[in-house]
Amino acid sequence: MKIASIGSGHIGGTLGKRWAAHGHEVMFGSRDPRGERMTDLLAEAGPNARAGTVREAAAFGEAILLAVRPEHVEQALAEAGDLSGRILINCINRYDGASAEAEVRRLAPGARIVRAFHTLPWEVLAEPRYEAGRATAFLYGDDPSATAAVAGLAADIGLDAVDVGSPEAMAKTEAANGALWSVLGPRFGRTYSLQVLRR
Ligand SMILES: NC(=O)c1ccc[n+]([C@@H]2O[C@H](COP(=O)([O-])OP(=O)(O)OC[C@H]3O[C@@H](n4cnc5c(N)ncnc54)[C@H](OP(=O)(O)O)[C@@H]3O)[C@@H](O)[C@H]2O)c1
Repeated sequence: MKIASIGSGHIGGTLGKRWAAHGHEVMFGSRDPRGERMTDLLAEAGPNARAGTVREAAAFGEAILLAVRPEHVEQALAEAGDLSGRILINCINRYDGASAEAEVRRLAPGARIVRAFHTLPWEVLAEPRYEAGRATAFLYGDDPSATAAVAGLAADIGLDAVDVGSPEAMAKTEAANGALWSVLGPRFGRTYSLQVLRR
């Protein structure tokens, strides 16, 4: 699949490298696509990755990961242009009480938005396999084919994808995940993970 990552930091860089390593074509959309940091990232990501402007990456991607800090969301989506009908993966977390979900919906009207990769730290996305199983990535999108595509992208890099089924369920999942993070993070560090065992 052709995947764009708007943002090439911890999350965009990690996911982009992993998808490229698994045979997807990746384009990082950057404010500085020829800069030294991007050159280093492309060297690590290998031949399936390239870089361009945010607009070029948005035009390239069948799926577009938005992986900028919350304060840059508005600018990045403005640079991306019209994303109607496109798969847009929203991993943004805000800690100021505002809803990242609502903001991205407002700024990218008509996009097929899937909320995903936001319940795990980048260190787990970099290596989601544990001796006991695979880290669960909770996701939700209201377009079934977009959600299935993103679940496939999660599975490709070793995650256990669980579609929680509704925006209300995702809000509860995020609250529970945040509460557990405050308990388990200080104890086990950023690389602990949860897996939903099921029969
Ligand atoms: N870190 C985590 O473990 C984690 C986990 C879950 C969710 N998240 C969410 O993921 C998002 C990204 O976090 P991160 O840790 O990856 O941040 P980060 O390491 O600071 O990376 C942010 C990236 O965004 C780029 N950027 C900023 N403005 C841009 C613009 N207008 N156009 C294109 N690129 C732009 C930056 O590029 P420059 O080099 O040009 O500044 C940088 O590559 C955040 O919203 C965060 O809430 C993070």
